[in-house]
Amino acid sequence: MSSGESGPGFRTVAESQSEMTEIVLPNDANVLGNLLGGRLMHFIDLTGALAAYRHSRTHVVTAAMDHIDFIQPVHVGDLLNLRSSVNRAFTTSMEVGVKVWVENAQTSTMLHVASAYLVFVAIDQNGRRVRVPELKPITADEQRRFSDALLRREHREAEAARRKKARIIAAAIDAAANP
Ligand SMILES: CC(C)(COP(=O)(O)OP(=O)(O)OC[C@H]1O[C@@H](n2cnc3c(N)ncnc32)[C@H](O)[C@@H]1OP(=O)(O)O)[C@@H](O)C(=O)NCCC(=O)NCCS
Repeated sequence: MSSGESGPGFRTVAESQSEMTEIVLPNDANVLGNLLGGRLMHFIDLTGALAAYRHSRTHVVTAAMDHIDFIQPVHVGDLLNLRSSVNRAFTTSMEVGVKVWVENAQTSTMLHVASAYLVFVAIDQNGRRVRVPELKPITADEQRRFSDALLRREHREAEAARRKKARIIAAAIDAAANP
């Protein structure tokens, strides 16, 4: 571990809360005028990184983006509103939740179109991982997200171990078939 190990204290969820608004342009869409899924993932990644940066106050890299449901199509001309905050900080990583709405500019109503969880890792100027401040959940919602984030981390770790085991077995089968 590098700098930051001395314990930079804690931060609240409110300190990481971030928001981004984008107008969907033709360049962001497919031939039917619907926002491309990859473009939406890009906006989600950027908004998530803002929250991770505000929590850690250092450079961050995306380590993982969990399953995303695209609930509703988003069209050219729509106003896309993305909000993010840190759900839980671990040692050098943070789980961030991002929620996306389409805002009807005339009625100002918001339609939920997508949600995702991402994991960011804090690094210094030299790319070395750094310790992040603890997160102190305050409200009931923040405490629920904090607990759920630990379950999701355990699930990610179990899934990574399962994939690693499958790779080892596949390599052993391959080696036996091609001695
Ligand atoms: C993310 C990265 C820094 C992790 O480095 P690493 O040497 O594998 O580090 P470790 O396995 O020791 O894990 C470090 C932390 O990252 C977390 N992490 C690593 N891989 C992860 C994954 N796939 N999903 C979730 N968390 C992950 C670990 O849980 C650990 O968290 P903790 O310190 O809070 O306990 C490294 O894999 C990397 O640089 N990846 C590329 C990042 C990037 O370029 N992103 C943009 C994608 S285009």
